[in-house]
Amino acid sequence: MKIKIYNKEGNEIIPKEKTVFLPEIRVEKNFEHFIIKEIYEQQISSKILIESLKNEQSSILDKIISLIYNSNKIVFIAAGSSYHSSLIASHLLRKLGFESYSIVASEFEEMNYDKKTLVFLVSQSGETMDTILAAKKLKDKVFSLVSVVNVPFSTLHRIADLSLEIKAGVEKCVAATKTYTNQVITFFYLAKLLGMNIDVEKIPRGVSEAIKENEEKIKNLAKNLKDLKDIFIIGRSINYYSSLEIALKLKEIAYIHAEALYGGELKHGTLALIDENSYVLALNPYFDENIKTNIEEVKARGAKLFEIPKDFYVDSDYPYFSLYSVIIGQLLTYYIAKEKNLPIDYPRNLAKSVTVK
Ligand code: AGP
Repeated sequence: MKIKIYNKEGNEIIPKEKTVFLPEIRVEKNFEHFIIKEIYEQQISSKILIESLKNEQSSILDKIISLIYNSNKIVFIAAGSSYHSSLIASHLLRKLGFESYSIVASEFEEMNYDKKTLVFLVSQSGETMDTILAAKKLKDKVFSLVSVVNVPFSTLHRIADLSLEIKAGVEKCVAATKTYTNQVITFFYLAKLLGMNIDVEKIPRGVSEAIKENEEKIKNLAKNLKDLKDIFIIGRSINYYSSLEIALKLKEIAYIHAEALYGGELKHGTLALIDENSYVLALNPYFDENIKTNIEEVKARGAKLFEIPKDFYVDSDYPYFSLYSVIIGQLLTYYIAKEKNLPIDYPRNLAKSVTVK
């Protein structure tokens, strides 16, 4: 079937073709699955992104900074992993003194928007229907729409007034790994431009170390965890958002029921479930004094406890730890799913881009 398009005057419009190239990333190693290839690629894709933010995308960033200073409220709208990276973004902006929130795209109407609200649409594919519907409804009703996407000229890119690209290259596995990492780095970079003390240049190395220093250990650990049914993942403040992302990876790829919660919420209910049969992963960097008490609470009940960074080597400085802990979660998920012989790259019931409401 051939479809022709006409303008109001009845003249045929000949669509122009646009070929979009995503940066090609090569890692000199053979991989059994796309996800592990993409986990490895993060060392390179993070570098490509940082270079692009410093050079080719610097004028877009200048405009975004000016929009931030001239708005009264900043709202990030996203789904799934993109929502989790957005939670990190709004956390950083709040730390810098801006009024900022993140909201799940399918619930975007729970927030108030006005002509001074700056909206970020965060999506690796740029084609997530929930986020597109929010964008269409808010277009011209807010201060400005800024998209943060991996796929240039995607629907969200085209709807937005301004667009940043995260330059992660092609991501084939349904689960987001390198796109999540590059979203977080983009937000770290934005926070740096707004005055936070963040050295983004050291991140590619930190990512590479997180993989190198932990992969063998995680491979072995995964053999013992292949029958794991449930796990609680606790974190506080920025690390709670990383707990959400690790939990999503474990559910989506390794089919493990993983529940992320604020450490401080344990005593308000969930502690009733904790006993010597429970598994808990705690995000416990040195800068988080509060999580230590929560770790004692689960230890006292005999739970099997894993801690990052105690049991896995990563740089535990703020805010980098929030990213590196997720790399550990990605590897853990991959090797458990491999032990279970699961369809790792294409998990059941899921699609790479969710184009339905
Ligand atoms: C993440 O591993 C998932 N594949 C999923 O949560 C995804 O992040 C979500 O569907 C949003 O997709 P988007 O970033 O393309 O908008």
